[in-house]
Amino acid sequence: MLWNKSKPPAPVATPDILPQHVAIIMDGNGRWAKARGLPRSAGHKKGADSLRTVLNACRSSGVRYLTIYAFSSENWKRPTDEIGDLMQLLQHYLRQELDTLHENKIRLRFIGDLTQLSANIRDSIRDATELTTRNADFNFTVALSYGSRQEILRTMRKLATDIEAGTLKPADITEDMISETLDTAGLPEPDLLIRTGGEQRLSNFLLWQSAYTEFYFTDVLWPDFDTQHFMLALQEYSQRERRYGTTGEQQ
Ligand code: FPP
Repeated sequence: MLWNKSKPPAPVATPDILPQHVAIIMDGNGRWAKARGLPRSAGHKKGADSLRTVLNACRSSGVRYLTIYAFSSENWKRPTDEIGDLMQLLQHYLRQELDTLHENKIRLRFIGDLTQLSANIRDSIRDATELTTRNADFNFTVALSYGSRQEILRTMRKLATDIEAGTLKPADITEDMISETLDTAGLPEPDLLIRTGGEQRLSNFLLWQSAYTEFYFTDVLWPDFDTQHFMLALQEYSQRERRYGTTGEQQ
């Protein structure tokens, strides 16, 4: 990377061209903790602070949608203790932040196979979703027990059921219909996807939705990711030329 990780880069102004929707794969919590001789849970806790910072940076810069990958379908394979710590952190975060999120007119959504979650978490999710459902200033979506292939599979099963019932013909299936049957129905596609922690892959996150998304990869570990790092990502996005498969000359 161009900057020393312990020394944040110089301030960067908000660019004119902004993504409407930013999606983030928040990677590197475990490595951040290990480097300090701390348990992985300490990395996740510090990661929750970065999330608060980035959510505020989104709102103050004019981004309207933030979607985070908080827990993947594959994360169920982690040690039981770590899963417990992550779920506890999520519950704590929801309890602690919900009023503030609501006061700031932020709408909360959750995507993923929520049936896998404990009844406690499902109750908190339902309450948070219902409380904030009419908020329209900002959209914060949390992917939990989420896997994009599993989401697409659920969508295919749903459409196949409609075909079996005789209410849908295969030839009438459209791309929009698929988009509106996915968990992300009603959300615009992400314009910018940020992945921290040095890996350069999607890891089963928003595969259908990110067909034309701009990707931004950084080595910065998620607990170290701050407003300045976020502004740099916005800056880079503003310089990308989005052509959506065209030559870009006449649109
Ligand atoms: C990846 O780092 C991170 C996660 C699996 C969890 C992300 C969760 C948070 C940031 C907690 C805050 C979220 C909410 C909604 C309260 P990793 O553990 O894979 O790190 P590593 O690659 O260094 O091992």
